[in-house]
Amino acid sequence: MRAIELQSFGANGLHRVDRPLPEPGVGEVRVQLRACSLNYRDFMTVSGTYNPRQPLPLVPLSDGVGIIDAVGAGVTQRKVGERVIGLFNQLWQDGEATPEVLRATLGGPLGGMLREYAVLRADGVLPVPEHLTDVQAATLPCAALTAWTALVTQGHLKAGETVLIQGTGGVSIFALQFAVLMGARPIVISSSDAKLERARALGAWQTLNYKQEPAWGKKILALTGGVDHVVEVGGGQTFGQSLLVARPHGHIAVIGVLSGVQPDATLLPILMKNLRVLGVMVGHAASARAMLTAIEAGRLQPVVERVLPWTDAQAALAEMATGQHFGKIALAF
Ligand SMILES: NC(=O)c1ccc[n+]([C@@H]2O[C@H](COP(=O)([O-])OP(=O)(O)OC[C@H]3O[C@@H](n4cnc5c(N)ncnc54)[C@H](OP(=O)(O)O)[C@@H]3O)[C@@H](O)[C@H]2O)c1
Repeated sequence: MRAIELQSFGANGLHRVDRPLPEPGVGEVRVQLRACSLNYRDFMTVSGTYNPRQPLPLVPLSDGVGIIDAVGAGVTQRKVGERVIGLFNQLWQDGEATPEVLRATLGGPLGGMLREYAVLRADGVLPVPEHLTDVQAATLPCAALTAWTALVTQGHLKAGETVLIQGTGGVSIFALQFAVLMGARPIVISSSDAKLERARALGAWQTLNYKQEPAWGKKILALTGGVDHVVEVGGGQTFGQSLLVARPHGHIAVIGVLSGVQPDATLLPILMKNLRVLGVMVGHAASARAMLTAIEAGRLQPVVERVLPWTDAQAALAEMATGQHFGKIALAF
């Protein structure tokens, strides 16, 4: 089978290789991949900034969908012919995770999905709703589950609540769609008016250009009196304003560090406003099951901006780095 390996850090370190067809062992299934999607983490993994100590070679990319074409001994819950996604975390079924479980993630340190066939744990894959195309289904394991965990599993989002969403990338557009699905009021900030228009078309209640309004926190605070939830993907340059814009007892889901890891913020609002500041590390299988049920019931359509052939991973990663995309970039086999 063909695969793409990261042999040295940097986009030029990606190489097409032939590997033997893997056989599923006890409790495992083999999946013939049909589509993958990119996450910002994949870009960082390839560049070596996510984990400079990651052993190489590595098959990158955490997210993929395919058809089960073989099952190993003892597998009863999955069968040949099912269309499944691989779970980002192969060991985290529910509840709290140990450090070892948190490290069991596809696309680093575990081998990822940029290959024609992958062998995964039978309890590390889940069937996907039929209304989704392959490339849409491939967007769910990391970005969608992260947004779901932030807003629903940990955030206990309720209808009518306000959700401040930063940016219009993969995680953020899923957060917008889940907020709409659940009857909440999403507020989207973006660097682009054109992207904000698209966010409004998806149901954003309010929008604001954070380049034109660098003090966006004050504006949104004045508009809402304080939001119930913040989807924090900006990191260093946004965390201070997220603390400002959250209502007393509000919730901030700390997800990304796109503008750096060092916030120039005082901790005082966290205690003065009784904030719930919760880290998110994608999520567990129980959350993924609940999310897939909601996606199916709501006929949710993941937003895929662009689809390239899987062998063009290098070009797709370069496109992701520009930040021009809205929603997800996918690769088809
Ligand atoms: N903790 C977890 O479990 C987890 C899971 C998934 C992703 N993440 C992290 O979450 C972040 C987003 O990931 P992604 O895959 O969704 O990335 P992505 O698709 O590349 O989205 C990036 C978007 O974020 C927006 N952005 C960048 N800098 C910003 C800033 N200073 N303020 C507000 N928005 C900003 C931009 O939107 P506009 O163009 O609209 O301005 C940009 O297009 C990354 O840091 C990633 O590592 C964490």
